[in-house]
Amino acid sequence: MPMLKYDPGGVFLDGGVTLEQLQQLAPRLEAARQEVDQDDPALLASGASLPAGREPLDAAFYQLPEQLLEENQQLGSESVVGRVGQLAGELRDRVDTVVLLGIGGSSAGARSLMDACCHPFHNQRGDRPRFFFAGDNLDTDATRALVELLSTDPGPFALLVISKSGDTLETAIALRQFVALQEKMRTPDWPPAAELVVPVTSSGSRLDRIASEQGWSCRFHVPQGVGGRFSLLSPVGLLPAAVLGIDPVALLQGAAAMNQRFRESAPGENPVLDYAGVGYLAETTAGLTIRLLATWNESLYSTGLWYDQLLAESLGKQQRGATPLTTLNTRDLHSRAQQHQQGRRDKLVTNLLVAGPPAEPLAIGPAPWNHDPLDAIEHQGLDDVQRAAREGIDQALQDVGCPTARIELPGLDPFSLGEFYQMMMLATVVEGKLLDVNPYGQPGVEAYKQKMARILGLDRD
Ligand code: PA5
Repeated sequence: MPMLKYDPGGVFLDGGVTLEQLQQLAPRLEAARQEVDQDDPALLASGASLPAGREPLDAAFYQLPEQLLEENQQLGSESVVGRVGQLAGELRDRVDTVVLLGIGGSSAGARSLMDACCHPFHNQRGDRPRFFFAGDNLDTDATRALVELLSTDPGPFALLVISKSGDTLETAIALRQFVALQEKMRTPDWPPAAELVVPVTSSGSRLDRIASEQGWSCRFHVPQGVGGRFSLLSPVGLLPAAVLGIDPVALLQGAAAMNQRFRESAPGENPVLDYAGVGYLAETTAGLTIRLLATWNESLYSTGLWYDQLLAESLGKQQRGATPLTTLNTRDLHSRAQQHQQGRRDKLVTNLLVAGPPAEPLAIGPAPWNHDPLDAIEHQGLDDVQRAAREGIDQALQDVGCPTARIELPGLDPFSLGEFYQMMMLATVVEGKLLDVNPYGQPGVEAYKQKMARILGLDRD
């Protein structure tokens, strides 16, 4: 089976990092890998105190794919994956529309999955269920527009309300607003309210308590020791995926395959260690503090935004950590690329693309004119032209000493995406170990949340 590839070839040039530096880093990468292997989520569960600087330790995401797959093998429909599949099927039977309420790590992964795996015009062309996102902003116009849109369809809609803390204001407000809309629109033929709101949250959270009080009959818990932005391969991402018809088992299998490569492959052939090593060296030895992920498929742009959160919140601490920036090409070659080539020399560019030609190429085609003059290449596909653009920008960047690497996904399918998510989560943790930054926790985000609550005069203790 084709596997995800990471090719750092273009970083070993003037302005980038040297192969020798990366080879010298191998013992530290090995040590980081061993530490990741030993980060024991049971420590957290047992309440044992962690060594200074290691609190919190949200490392349970690492072995979660294997655990969930194993549990699914053993318990079938009683397992988390089995229950996710069953509920997704029931929701698909009951409603034509689903709204995900959540923000940050409770929303970005589902958006990435939907954009990558579903038709780009999923909602517009009538694919079912229609799937919308809310609660990821405090935007009156956007919220009102969605409320108005839902109001035009008399059918029932379901809410997936996702919040690890169960305490996030944006999500809590959206929950009130959209439950109120359900109640306003309810007609006797709608399923009971208890079946139309599905929370995914931590056990014992405020949201969990609301769910118990309201009698929302089906709910999932975020596993202990899994951080918000590391939670995509838990029910946080698996439930919306299944609702959208994306196979949760294939996602987990892709992630488990990446875990195996992480554990078994030597530096130089290990996408996690190689990506982490290149990023760390680029930042600390070459001054490349902007980590630019250039996506070449519109459907991968929100996957880049998922990575933006992962990198920014995990390593942006103690005045360290590269600044993430996701771009979409060729769109951004006509806006941002000028600066990337001739502005500050502070960028490491990683191209994110799908390997091989598209299943159904789209030719440029003939026209009654040739002033363009495209007749010479009219039989070529958009992908041929895109390849030329990729090679062109890579050469232009390398000419001015801007290093470029590449991640190739075998396809836009759940297995390949599972590989990618797990690669990036593990690489972020490994890079944190190299930088001596705890990748877990987000004290800055918490500070914002508390200050906002205080300004609103809310008692959130
Ligand atoms: O990574 C994190 O934990 C955070 O950025 C959260 O994803 C974000 O703040 C949303 O929090 P919650 O899922 O608790 O509503």
